[in-house]
Amino acid sequence: MPKETLTITDNITGKSVDYPLYEGSLGTKTVDVRKLNQDLGYFTFDTGFKATASCESHITYIDGENGILLYRGYPIDQLAENCDFIEVAYLLMCGELPTRDELNRFDTEVVRHSMLHESIKSFFDGFHYDAHPMAIMLGVVGSLSAFYHDQLDVKDPEQRRIFATRMIGKMPTIAAASYRHSMGRPLVYPRRDLNYCENFLNMMFSRIDQNSIAIDDDIDPIAVKALNLLFILHADHEQNASTSTVRLAGSTGANPYACIAAGIAALWGPAHGGANEAVLSMLDEIGTADKIPEFIERAKNPDDPFRLMGFGHRVYKNFDPRATIIRKTCHEILQQTQQSDPLFDLALALEEYALNDDYFKEKKLYPNVDFYSGIIYKALHIPVEMFTVMFSIARTAGWVSHWLEMTKEEVFPIGRPRQLYLGPTHRDYKPFDQR
Ligand code: CMC
Repeated sequence: MPKETLTITDNITGKSVDYPLYEGSLGTKTVDVRKLNQDLGYFTFDTGFKATASCESHITYIDGENGILLYRGYPIDQLAENCDFIEVAYLLMCGELPTRDELNRFDTEVVRHSMLHESIKSFFDGFHYDAHPMAIMLGVVGSLSAFYHDQLDVKDPEQRRIFATRMIGKMPTIAAASYRHSMGRPLVYPRRDLNYCENFLNMMFSRIDQNSIAIDDDIDPIAVKALNLLFILHADHEQNASTSTVRLAGSTGANPYACIAAGIAALWGPAHGGANEAVLSMLDEIGTADKIPEFIERAKNPDDPFRLMGFGHRVYKNFDPRATIIRKTCHEILQQTQQSDPLFDLALALEEYALNDDYFKEKKLYPNVDFYSGIIYKALHIPVEMFTVMFSIARTAGWVSHWLEMTKEEVFPIGRPRQLYLGPTHRDYKPFDQR
């Protein structure tokens, strides 16, 4: 038993039990209640896992009160300033920043895995031309489990590593192909001479001539830099909904490609990764600055389902450090690309109004990363339906790192929450004529 404990007293029976308190390397102490049911006959009730640590992890740390985000101990602003996305993906997966040689080897391997099996291409044709690219991506990533099933031994560290690298490599190709299919354009193959973000932009936007050769359009270095930054900021966020979904699916021993597809599904919702797309729809709906007070009142009204998209966060209660970095980048990109976006001006006006409103102040609701990411994507000519797809490319680095962390344990328990049952008590079947 650790030195520190927490005593829980059952006020019905008077029985008290001490439970171990664990202290991580950073963050809130955690009480181990795994034996609570055995000792006292109760479950804990925590809908939305607001106070439940579901696992031990060494990957990412968030201090919500102070707006701190660390990947493997490194502050997000330092990584955003100095790194390449692939370097950050390596850090998340392997635990340390790579040496130059390690990075080169990893980069080469990622590029090698960026090609799709020719049969995968036919999956895209099965989707209707106007399918949402998230739906296409979800289906195609799930289908990878059919291509890499028999050869995959989850107990073998090398096979696990190949899965993770392959997933990081293939995501931009699948994402760009999902977009091109929805535009009725032929798929563009990845190129070995381009880096991760350049390759993605090339696969998205390059033209194809009648011989099916991708024409070498100039890849805008401003877009490459912005994409690299956004991918780093979105790469991981500890036990968020989609990462927890990947872990939960993985805890059953399921095929890891199917687990990533489960993560993509969880990310899609507007409360999570779908927020960047929802922010732009909301700004479009608001339209002009004079309508802001009306929408703020709607967001505050408990009887109105409308919420200010891109505001609030389960963990950050003062500011989202990713939002601080990205807000500055929004200004820079719009300046560098010589665009003046009325939506960005509207977003700034909305932000200012909300930050001075008592409701938002009291509930500690601040703009999160996705309040601004859509505006950057829009400036880079990424279509709105692709915003959450972009998020999934980046978050794949986090998903595979968490899956690797979980599966390297000899034994990992299946994730299986309990419930507070409120349904009917025992009743006997009634035949049709008695109902
Ligand atoms: N607009 C208006 N009211 C809000 C908002 C909002 N965006 N967010 C929270 N609230 C209110 C909420 O109604 C509740 O009020 P009350 O105490 O009266 O019931 C209170 O603030 C606490 O909210 P909650 O829903 O209990 O908080 P949560 O931690 O469960 O939800 C959230 C966090 C991010 C889902 C939520 O803030 C939200 O829906 N935000 C809008 C969607 C969004 O921007 N999501 C992207 C998150 S960042 C990207 C990522 O990491 O996935």
